[in-house]
Amino acid sequence: MADLDAVLARIDADLDQALERLFALLRIKSISTDPAYAADCRECAEWHVEDLQSIGFVATLHDTPGHPIVTGHARAAAGPSALFYGHYDVQPVDPLELWDHDPFAPFIETRPDGSRCIRARGASDDKGQVMTFVEACRAWKAVTGALPIPVSIVIEGEEESGGASLPPFLEAHAAELKADIGLICDTGMLDPETPAITTMLRGLCGEEIVIEAADRDLHSGLYGSAAANPNHVLARILADLHDENGRVTIPGFYDGVRELSPELKATWDDLPVDAADFLGAVGLSVPAGEQGRSIFEQVWSRPTAEVNGMGGGYQGEGFKTVIPAKASAKVSFRLVFDQDPKAVREAFRAFVRARLPADCKVRFIEHGSGRAIGFPVDAPAFGRTRDALTAEWGNAAVFIGSGGSIPVAHELEQKLGMDVVLTGFGLEDDRIHSPNEKYEFESFRRGIRSWARIMAALADQR
Ligand code: BES
Ligand code: ZN
Repeated sequence: MADLDAVLARIDADLDQALERLFALLRIKSISTDPAYAADCRECAEWHVEDLQSIGFVATLHDTPGHPIVTGHARAAAGPSALFYGHYDVQPVDPLELWDHDPFAPFIETRPDGSRCIRARGASDDKGQVMTFVEACRAWKAVTGALPIPVSIVIEGEEESGGASLPPFLEAHAAELKADIGLICDTGMLDPETPAITTMLRGLCGEEIVIEAADRDLHSGLYGSAAANPNHVLARILADLHDENGRVTIPGFYDGVRELSPELKATWDDLPVDAADFLGAVGLSVPAGEQGRSIFEQVWSRPTAEVNGMGGGYQGEGFKTVIPAKASAKVSFRLVFDQDPKAVREAFRAFVRARLPADCKVRFIEHGSGRAIGFPVDAPAFGRTRDALTAEWGNAAVFIGSGGSIPVAHELEQKLGMDVVLTGFGLEDDRIHSPNEKYEFESFRRGIRSWARIMAALADQR
């Protein structure tokens, strides 16, 4: 306990330097999806290697067909071992004109009420969150000369672009990376005062469809009603995806979907946030999902079909009377429980083909996929983490789900056979993936303190 208090004091005393380190990382433009930034991604990986080495980790940069992966090991201590995962890559910054500042020139913004936040692309997703863990390690090393538990770290650079390098890397390095528990800091809190452990994340299946009919765009007066119109065909198919109660109509879509356990449903029903709060924050008021399901059931434990983009025909200035030769849409399915991304993809394709009128053709373009995860919370690491979070924040930590996806969580579970504790300090209004991304200063400070406590709690074998 005396050690932990000294570590927490050290964290508070070292905050300015910790911020400087984070700012150095935030200045690197590690946009993984755009090849123009490949050198920046590498620079980020090199930065992490040096930084980890400076606190006594054996750290290595591994080249991959994509962006480098960083590993680090600090094996000195006894006790249950942990593997921490994070990503150094960030989302593109466009539309740049919507930013109030240079996305890669981090700064502290002080609000009228005195609260402060860190502004930059990646401040919350995921550089700031990754550094909460690294800074906690630094403080433990500085105060006691060692970490409370053996720690391995893997930091990748392709999370935001659905890159393929990590799964084979995990397989090839399984023996080196396998630990008693996985730790991920890439999720959020329930609200600014209430820490959370995310025990369920939805999976993903992305698919693009292109409907084609006539061999050219046609005059809509000369051919109208006689010629098949791909816009109409596409709209009809997409509209057919849901029934009037918000249920997805694709045959077999719900295979593998389970009902929540009554216990979990009860804890979600008790959360101090309701549909009005959740939707009100983005200017909405009425849940649009499956009827008869609570807002948290809808976004955390039910699968979706969402049209993320659609286009066809003339969309420029003014008006043009045309029947387009093709129309297309990008559709994503968020998956839950045991839904199989491959089966969902096939079922969707069959659904589309069954609705294709004469003279129309369809092409499918496959995008990323991954299964959902759900961890039973009876492993001791969950209770210990929850208690450590509660001690730091004052409010009891809660178990939540999240509608987002972190594909590596399933990989860690499957390939390394590990339970994964996902906890993070992001807030709903952090604007991740959007212009003007931010991370609360208190998320950073208390996030570091939280990890210092979590490591101590995991070490405690009693
Ligand atoms: N960190 C996010 C996911 C997230 C955010 C989970 C907030 C829980 C709370 C992650 O970096 C992300 O955005 N993932 C993508 C998936 C990826 C395959 C492109 C997503 O969910 O769309
Ligand atoms: Zn992200």
